[in-house]
Amino acid sequence: MKELSITTNIRVLSYDELTEEQRKLTDMAKKETENAYAPYSNFFVGAAALLANGEIFAASNQENAAYPSGLCAERVTLFYANSKFPDVPVKTLAIVAKTNGEFVEECCAPCGACRQVILETEFRGGEPIEILLCGRDQVYLVHSIKDLLPLCFTKDSLERG
Ligand code: THU
Repeated sequence: MKELSITTNIRVLSYDELTEEQRKLTDMAKKETENAYAPYSNFFVGAAALLANGEIFAASNQENAAYPSGLCAERVTLFYANSKFPDVPVKTLAIVAKTNGEFVEECCAPCGACRQVILETEFRGGEPIEILLCGRDQVYLVHSIKDLLPLCFTKDSLERG
């Protein structure tokens, strides 16, 4: 038997340690939580994506009485960005969540389906997407979605057979 050990690198930064651009994106994601439609979970998520052409798209989670019909903030944001600028890579994605009137303490980690969509977006763009998982006082900075999705399934996996 062989054991495989997979490591993930995450940098934990305070807000002060972010660049101006990262802080702007984080603030936009925070603001976006105000537009979330989350009457069922009361979990208000905002996401903001910076594209390589400087455009920024920000959006929130949108729920539905038929629960599975709702969509996470990350996917609303990325699908919209990708549909407007299909050939422009996404450079950075900030994610924030608020519940009971407060931003979550540690960080808001994307769900599995969103990780898969971020992966596809990264694959399309051909360059790593920096992800900022924002907590109340700190930010987890992830260099690429591959750090959150080891042994990932991409277009390459299909072609490799
Ligand atoms: N949600 C997001 O928007 N993003 C995440 O990363 C995690 C979960 C939403 C989906 C649903 O509207 C609510 O948060 C509770 O799961």
